[in-house]
Amino acid sequence: MKTENKLMIRALKGEKTERTPIWLMRQAGRFLPEYRKTRASANGFLDLCYTPDLAVEVTLQPIRRFGFDASIMFSDILVIPHALGQKVWFEEGVGPKLEGLNSIEDLSNLNMDNLHEHLAPMYETLGRLKEELPKETTLIGFAGAPWTVASYMIEGGSSKDYAKAKTWAYSKPEEFDQIINLVVEATTKYLIKQIESGAETVQIFDSWAGVWPEFALRRWCLEPCKQIIAGIKSVCPNVPVILFPRGVGDSYPVFAKESGADALGLDTTLSTSWARDNIQSHVTVQGNLDPLVLVAGGDILEKSIETIMNDLSGGPFIFNLGHGIVPQTPIENVEKMLKLVRG
Ligand code: CP3
Repeated sequence: MKTENKLMIRALKGEKTERTPIWLMRQAGRFLPEYRKTRASANGFLDLCYTPDLAVEVTLQPIRRFGFDASIMFSDILVIPHALGQKVWFEEGVGPKLEGLNSIEDLSNLNMDNLHEHLAPMYETLGRLKEELPKETTLIGFAGAPWTVASYMIEGGSSKDYAKAKTWAYSKPEEFDQIINLVVEATTKYLIKQIESGAETVQIFDSWAGVWPEFALRRWCLEPCKQIIAGIKSVCPNVPVILFPRGVGDSYPVFAKESGADALGLDTTLSTSWARDNIQSHVTVQGNLDPLVLVAGGDILEKSIETIMNDLSGGPFIFNLGHGIVPQTPIENVEKMLKLVRG
């Protein structure tokens, strides 16, 4: 099937589709026994990301089981700092770790010299997925947004309050701009190459956008994402871009009007009737079932899906969660959700 005729792509281009497309953030992951099995055969999480045979396999697993309308390439947002030359590793039971940046001098150790070479396995994974996916399934590429990626580069891993990164930004904003700009440049190149390798749309994850006051949100989330999107559109004008500015609350309409994204991912906390009136009037929306409602199941799952569908399915809409699926999600609840969304 031609890309432009696929359900998900039509929704991204602003069409109210005859059926609501559905996929889930982090759909290839630990809630699936087949993922855990492949993961155990790999030499750690990064090995899984950098081995196309394994990455293709775990990307296809949720498609085989559930027939989602879209398939997101299996990888991680931290391959960008890794490609720039930063040390990145995953500690079992802890999560990602990086050798955190401490001063602007540390930035001079990072560069784009080996960017595409380092990321070649991701491009290969996408090319193979394009061949192997069911003909109606949309292939999604992705990257982290500059702020979300920079937060890991500076904090050296996950953080509760982003104190180190935010203090750096506020006290030496020009230095912080330099870090952000490097990630903007690398991410733009990465996403364009993903599209050239087979991705039919790309999603930018700004998972930690919700920690900034408005002026800083503009400077370090909106503007960098806008630059990436403009860079993509200058080379691939017809490829839709999804932006997930998680947690930005009443700034969502600003992102809808100014970012250049074709669609916004709505986080769990947004009212869907408000989103219909203030966001969906400008762009396609995607979301926003609470991943923990999906864990709980039962009446609250049915009611939550009904509210989301009633509020958003009258316009361009893609069903998804409001953040990534969690490992303890019962598979039967995912099956029930699919039945309810697809009618
Ligand atoms: O959506 C998909 O199925 C595609 C794959 C994908 C992963 N990470 C695989 C993964 C995607 C799109 C991501 C994005 C990502 N990675 C984000 C942004 C999205 C979000 O959820 O907010 C962030 C912040 C990261 C960084 C990251 N990677 C963290 C903080 C962790 C540890 C927490 C956790 O969930 O374990 C990871 C690891 C990770 N990335 C796993 C998977 C399947 C689990 C690794 C394992 O198997 O042990």
